[in-house]
Amino acid sequence: MTILNRRRTRRNRPAGPRSIYDPISFGIDENGDPVEVTLMYRNLLDGGEPGSGKSSLLNTIIGHAALCTDARLWLFDGKIVELGLWRPVADVFVGNSIGLALDRLRELQSEMDIRYTQLDAAGRRKIVQTDGLDVILCVIDELAYYSVTIGTKDEQEEFRTLVRDLVARGRAAGIIVVAATQRPSADIIPTSLRDLFGYRVAFRCTTDSSSDIILSVGWAKEGFSAKDIRPEDRGVGWLLAEGGIPRRFKAAYLTDAHIRAVVNVARRLRDNPPGDPAA
Ligand SMILES: Nc1ncnc2c1ncn2[C@@H]1O[C@H](COP(=O)(O)OP(=O)(O)O)[C@@H](O)[C@H]1O
Ligand SMILES: [Mg+2]
Repeated sequence: MTILNRRRTRRNRPAGPRSIYDPISFGIDENGDPVEVTLMYRNLLDGGEPGSGKSSLLNTIIGHAALCTDARLWLFDGKIVELGLWRPVADVFVGNSIGLALDRLRELQSEMDIRYTQLDAAGRRKIVQTDGLDVILCVIDELAYYSVTIGTKDEQEEFRTLVRDLVARGRAAGIIVVAATQRPSADIIPTSLRDLFGYRVAFRCTTDSSSDIILSVGWAKEGFSAKDIRPEDRGVGWLLAEGGIPRRFKAAYLTDAHIRAVVNVARRLRDNPPGDPAA
């Protein structure tokens, strides 16, 4: 039985305020059980061939974060339309401008440095939920667009350096990076950057080696290869996160209408956060 044609009762959560410290619902596994991932203190990279479901997973993650009153959205989308519907609830939205992308990433790097200075002054190692400090979810759809396609070589290099620094150091300061790329091979992102992403999702790939490039070398040989996903099974992927062993799952999917509905709820939540006397 495939995970696509199996019907299950799913847990329904009301569309109310949430916390980014809570698990995010990614979809269901082959038994129809919920697949949930806690992204706080983590970074995630998703890869796969065009049309395999990468941007859709980003949208699902953003949909959760949009309803979190303790998360700010910083979105980078070279195509503009993949994440564009979230613009009304995003603090930052960068489209096809490398200059703007660099400005914003430098800003985020400064914010990270300020947070570490504050943590250091307080004798602490990481921010926690009770600090009341907003977490910043930085989502980049198609890393390669900024890292190898647009801009000059120097700009692309600076982009890679900034992303690497944010992925390497951001977690304890409450900065989560979630990025998508078709193939995280060395010509697109340096291996040293790719390896910093603790959590990976491999949607359909055309070869075992592409799948291994996303999940890390050796998994295809063990039977965990995104090449085995049928082309028509969009949104089916291997998730490497908590547990340390890839888990096959079918990602949830938000239509444009779903996204607009979530944006409406998220806008109200953000304008009148719970506990705010104006609410
Ligand atoms: N989880 C999913 N469930 C059902 N259909 C999906 C799912 N993910 C993607 N799709 C379908 O596949 C199309 C391409 O998905 P997309 O996320 O844009 O792929 P990618 O970003 O990898 O190119 C979507 O427009 C949608 O029709
Ligand atoms: Mg895409």
